[in-house]
Amino acid sequence: MYLTRYEEKIYDGEAGWVLEKAIKIVVKVGEAMGADRLIPISHAHISGVGYGNIGEAGLSLLRDLRDGGARFATYTTANPGSVDDDSSYYFNYGDPFIRGQKEILGIFREMGANVFTCTPYYYREPRAGEILAWAESNAVLIANSIYGARSNRESGLLAMFEAILGKTYRAGLLVEENRAPQIAFKIEARMGSIIDYGLAGLAVGEIAGERIPYVAGLKPRSHEEVKAFLAAAGSSGGMGLVIIDSVSPDSRGIRDVLAGIERISIDDKDLKRTSEEIICSEADAALIGCPHASLELIEDLARMLVERDVRAAKPVWIFTSHLVYEELGRKGLIDLFASRGVKVFAGICGVISPLNILGYRCIATPSVKAASYLPKLAGVRYIYMDLPEIVSKMFK
Ligand code: F3S
Repeated sequence: MYLTRYEEKIYDGEAGWVLEKAIKIVVKVGEAMGADRLIPISHAHISGVGYGNIGEAGLSLLRDLRDGGARFATYTTANPGSVDDDSSYYFNYGDPFIRGQKEILGIFREMGANVFTCTPYYYREPRAGEILAWAESNAVLIANSIYGARSNRESGLLAMFEAILGKTYRAGLLVEENRAPQIAFKIEARMGSIIDYGLAGLAVGEIAGERIPYVAGLKPRSHEEVKAFLAAAGSSGGMGLVIIDSVSPDSRGIRDVLAGIERISIDDKDLKRTSEEIICSEADAALIGCPHASLELIEDLARMLVERDVRAAKPVWIFTSHLVYEELGRKGLIDLFASRGVKVFAGICGVISPLNILGYRCIATPSVKAASYLPKLAGVRYIYMDLPEIVSKMFK
């Protein structure tokens, strides 16, 4: 791979061991991907910041990097952890866990990341053609598939080193020729609730795997529906781009490329098959906001609560970003939710957290992505419920 003289100096350790390590890792991955050179990024997004994910080993690496002077060289955001100062009283996972999680977030702050959300696209909307180094599958898929930005689907660790270096390797989805679809889907299922969009995404992701899918017939009516579809596709598939007809900038003029690639129909049966995996029936809490809920989705829920004049009968949690939380505060909705017994948490994630140790067993959620991770990461079972069902079954 071609390196500039300045990059060569970094590679040779003249700018310190942290940058040397960063460039060596990025170059190694780039060479494996066939990259010709490094290219500056305008935004890095890091995933895998949960103490439950990275544990003491990850924390010890972060300490070393911080002590070695690691700082992010570009605008950098990171996924949420399990708890922070504001939420550890409620989700009390025990001292060692809380201490470890807070230390991780503190180190990322020291390195220059101040935003903890899995929806970095609400903080800084990606531009078409912009070069990013993002981890977190839903964010990468939204950046590439909705905004037409250019990001490979990085691991959390690689995105962190790219943030430190301020550069990524020019290969994969950064190169125009690599963004052509490799398999085509026609959605023929009846798309009713937001869960159907998630289930369709799950089916597409399972079949496509690493391949870039072209998807026709999805016809989303809102941003939340595309977001649910992409988040679920990213949880079952390994792709970083889904080309959605009439939504994705990459879908323009695509007809010729579609000739000769495998075509698959997704119908009601495919959605039903995945939804039959419901594995509990009596929810003891409801989780909304995986990925972090948008203002639009939370306002919908607030409207339903007021219309039906109900109060939560069981724990109901909304997870969102600080950005959206502040907007909710300005609109008086945090107070409204408090009066209805709903907890709104900013900047944390309930899915990557050991909910089982708090005694939860069965979580209701409209998020197919959350459902795919809850049993493994939170040690709980799940049941799908869209917002109207949550209001009718979890409130009185
Ligand atoms: Fe976000 Fe946690 Fe879901 S990081 S995408 S809320 S698993």
